[in-house]
Amino acid sequence: MKIFAQIDQLKAFLKEENQTKLIGFVPTMGALHEGHLKLVEKSIQENDLTVCSIFVNKIQFNNEEDFAKYPNTLEEDIQLLESIGCNCLFAPDHSTIYPEGYRLKEYSLGDIEYVLEGSYRPGHFQGVCNVVNRLLGIIQPDRLYLGLKDFQQCKVIEKMTQLVCLERKLELKFCETIRNNDGLALSSRNKRLSVEGINKATILIKILNQAREKILAAKESIDLTLLGQESIKKILNSGFDSVDYFAFVNEHFEVIDLTSNKNKPSTILTAGTIEGVRLIDNIKI
Ligand code: PAF
Repeated sequence: MKIFAQIDQLKAFLKEENQTKLIGFVPTMGALHEGHLKLVEKSIQENDLTVCSIFVNKIQFNNEEDFAKYPNTLEEDIQLLESIGCNCLFAPDHSTIYPEGYRLKEYSLGDIEYVLEGSYRPGHFQGVCNVVNRLLGIIQPDRLYLGLKDFQQCKVIEKMTQLVCLERKLELKFCETIRNNDGLALSSRNKRLSVEGINKATILIKILNQAREKILAAKESIDLTLLGQESIKKILNSGFDSVDYFAFVNEHFEVIDLTSNKNKPSTILTAGTIEGVRLIDNIKI
């Protein structure tokens, strides 16, 4: 696997390769787990060349502590990527991505920027869009692979790519959430949980599943306010310290107004904190 920290060297390598080859790109912040590796493997299957990036993007963290505690396992990550046959790793430092004088962009993302994750992490999605757009500009892939655990992020990046002018046509590939045997969505943040915490955290997918089943089984319209409240209570009773939201969105990622039954929920999303670690998950209805 070729490893680059500098943009010029990566670009020179890709220039030689990309005339005729399809390039798949998997952006990550490292601390790789099976979920990331599945994205890389999918890209390897579907493209001639796969680039993975590892860059802990400071500007998307609205919480200093979360950034400071983000696991850094570069050596291990390199071994994992090599073991599955990834062609190329881009692992730049902060000043390479954001050199002095670099002007961050402001994307008109609309409501999706401010709801759910956006309301708990102000600025987060602008940070994500800035780095992903920057990386797309450098790598110019044909396909971008993203995990559906971060469903709102997938939709935000989709919106961003519609707003900007990319040099190559880009296909977005949203890939299913990879889970442990008990259903817990794999996340780099899980590394900060105790074994007990990991076990307790599986409640998120269980409650999401229960809510989904209730919605599917309901013949008439269902009281989503009550369903949301009951679900939050169950998550808290199972050991979560707090739950930020248990929300229903429609197919346009509009948060469903719980006072009206007009909208059809298409995905349920939740976020909660356990042992000081904030986890998110979602399920399609
Ligand atoms: O999902 C992530 O790991 C990050 O938000 C991403 C897409 C790599 C951008 O920093």
